[in-house]
Amino acid sequence: MDFKEKTVIVTGASRGIGKAIALKMGELGANVVINYSRDEKGAKAVLDELTKMGSKGIIVKSNVTSTDEVDDMIDKTIDTFGHIHVLVNNAGITRDSLLLRMKEEDWDSVLETNLKGVFNCTKAVTRHMMKARQGVIINISSVIGITGNAGQSNYAAAKAGIIGFSKSMAKELAPRGIRVNVVAPGFIKTDMTDVLDDKIKQGILSNIPLKRYGTPDDIAQVVAFLASDYSSYITGQVINVDGGMII
Ligand SMILES: NC(=O)c1ccc[n+]([C@@H]2O[C@H](COP(=O)([O-])OP(=O)(O)OC[C@H]3O[C@@H](n4cnc5c(N)ncnc54)[C@H](OP(=O)(O)O)[C@@H]3O)[C@@H](O)[C@H]2O)c1
Repeated sequence: MDFKEKTVIVTGASRGIGKAIALKMGELGANVVINYSRDEKGAKAVLDELTKMGSKGIIVKSNVTSTDEVDDMIDKTIDTFGHIHVLVNNAGITRDSLLLRMKEEDWDSVLETNLKGVFNCTKAVTRHMMKARQGVIINISSVIGITGNAGQSNYAAAKAGIIGFSKSMAKELAPRGIRVNVVAPGFIKTDMTDVLDDKIKQGILSNIPLKRYGTPDDIAQVVAFLASDYSSYITGQVINVDGGMII
C-alpha cells in the first residue's frame, strides 16, 4: 500500500483509534491532517511522531459539530496540500446512561458529534472529491450501532445512523468515483473504554471469541485497506473489527 502524494484527513486524531489511523497512514506515505477539538497536546504529539517518521502533516483544531470550523479545516487542507483523497470520520464521544436518566443534552451532544459531525465533514470534502472524480470516505461506527446496548441508546442511534448515512452516500457518490465504507469496531482499548469498570470489561472479554480486546492498530490496518486500491471494488460495506464479538 502506497499513499505517497495522497492527503488523508482523520477527525479526532489526537489519541486512541484516530491517532493510530493517522500514524498508519503517515507510515504508508500519506500527508495527514490531524484533527482535534480540545486535546492540542495530544494532536501535537501525533504530529511529532509523524514528522519523525518522515511524513508530512498538519494539526487542525476544529469541532466537527460546527460547519464553519469544518469548512475552515477543509480550506486549510486544500491550502497546504492542494487536494483531499481520503476522509476518515472517527471523532466520537459517549455520554452513557439508561434512557429514563438520560439528559436531553447527553442525547443531543452524542448525536451532534457522532452523527452530525460525519454529515458536516462528508459534505465539506465531497465538493472537492466530486470535482476530482475520486475519493474515499471511511466512517467509524461501532458494533453497538448494529446490536444496540442498554445504557447507550444515544450512542447506538448515532452509530446506526452512520451506517444508513454511509450506505446512502455510497450509492449517491459511486457515479463520481467516490467510495464510502464503514468500520464497526468492537471493544478497543482506548481512553473511551478505560472508564468502564473491570467487571464490565471482564464480561465483554468473555464474549470475544478471539479472547483479547482490540487495539487501535487493529482498526487502523482495516482503515488503510479500505483507503487503498486493494479495496477498489468495495463500497457501501460495514466491516466489523471485533474479534468475532457479534458473529
Ligand atoms: N474504543 C472503542 O472500543 C470503540 C468501539 C467502537 C467504536 N469506537 C469509535 O471509534 C472512534 C474513536 O474512539 P476512541 O476510543 O479512540 O475515543 P477517544 O480515545 O475518546 O478519542 C476520541 C477522539 O475524538 C476527538 N473528538 C471528540 N469530540 C470531537 C469533536 N467534537 N470534534 C473533533 N474531534 C473530537 C477527541 O479529541 P478532543 O479531545 O480534542 O476533542 C479524540 O481525539 C469513536 O467514533 C468511537 O465511537 C470506539
